[in-house]
Amino acid sequence: MKISSIHYYYYFATLAIPLIVPSDAQLSSTFYDSTCPDALSTIRTSIRQAVTNEQRMAASLIRLHFHDCFVQGCDASILLNETTGERTALQNANSVRGFEVVEAAKQAVEAICPGVVSCADILAVAARDATVAVGGPSWTVKLGRRDSLDAANRALTENDIPMEREPLDDLISMFENKNLTIRDMVALSGSRTIGQARCVTFRDRIYNNEIIDPDFAITRQRNCPETGGDDNLAPLDEMTPNVFDNSYFRNLQNRRGLLESDQVLFSGGSTDSIVQEYINSPDRFNSDFAAAMIKMGDIEPLTGVDGEIRKTCASNN
Ligand code: HEM
Ligand SMILES: *[C@@H]1O[C@H](CO)[C@@H](O)[C@H](O)[C@H]1NC(C)=O
Ligand SMILES: *[C@@H]1O[C@H](CO)[C@@H](O)[C@H](O)[C@H]1NC(C)=O
Repeated sequence: MKISSIHYYYYFATLAIPLIVPSDAQLSSTFYDSTCPDALSTIRTSIRQAVTNEQRMAASLIRLHFHDCFVQGCDASILLNETTGERTALQNANSVRGFEVVEAAKQAVEAICPGVVSCADILAVAARDATVAVGGPSWTVKLGRRDSLDAANRALTENDIPMEREPLDDLISMFENKNLTIRDMVALSGSRTIGQARCVTFRDRIYNNEIIDPDFAITRQRNCPETGGDDNLAPLDEMTPNVFDNSYFRNLQNRRGLLESDQVLFSGGSTDSIVQEYINSPDRFNSDFAAAMIKMGDIEPLTGVDGEIRKTCASNN
């Protein structure tokens, strides 16, 4: 077929329009409605199955999304299986998990619409579906994030993700750096109403901290000796370790928070009143948590033509 140059002009001009998406484009919940209408239901099936297989996976997926978003934005950088950067940071090494679950969801989506749905979006949806699977609130996930070409380096990662012994003021400013409020921080920490922590992260607290219920300290010391046993696990919420409820906050009131960064949220500082509010109102906790997860998912996404849509989450194309 012969096409005149003027036709060429209009042909390419028309084609080009959808490509001119500004790099600060807004995320949108309908992003895949026409390009992959079954993406969300496919991810949900995959995540529900994974949480049925292992309930802790719900916690691990929420945390994986958090660690992705706090370093270089929600760009799936943490999923890259490189051996020197982001994943080797103190906060991640031998700690973050759920990679194979996200990869399985990704491959299920690739099977129905290859090259369309980013790993960063799959991780954001997985965190929501995981929350719902253990009885937590639901929310509408904004979509349209793209995947990074590279992981962040170790130094940036260690700088941006809070550690378990961070003082309250530092925790507050680390969240402020990501445009999250004190309230967002307390609500998001409430997801540690599920999941587990390694002895190495709470040893100092159960042997040396003063703001702790003595019986609780003794119980936890049984499986976390003063030396050795670094990887021994304990539930972050001893009451209902696999249910997304507000007992995390009730534990804090009873000085039975496992990590120092848990108990610090209720030890006479500016966050005590928020903890009290979430004890009084589980609904308020749920709605604040959902709103904070949406805000966290908005941290510096790659959009438009930035980054790429990876074929496998563990490596760039
Ligand atoms: C406030 C600053 C935070 C600090 C200092 C912190 C620290 C930690 C530490 C040390 C662990 C145990 C890791 C291990 O032993 O391997 C942990 C687990 C966990 N954290 Fe946080 N975290 C923080 C914020 C958050 C936020 C914002 C979320 C969710 C959006 C979150 C969700 C979780 C979950 C669900 C687990 C359990 C993970 C599992 O069982 O695999 N944390 N956190
Ligand atoms: C926080 O908000 C400011 C102003 O909108 C923006 O320039 C900045 O990139 C945001 N930072 C993050 C980490 O989202
Ligand atoms: C990283 O993932 C890719 C793709 O799945 C795989 O081929 C490679 O062996 C993995 N590398 C490491 C270090 O695990």
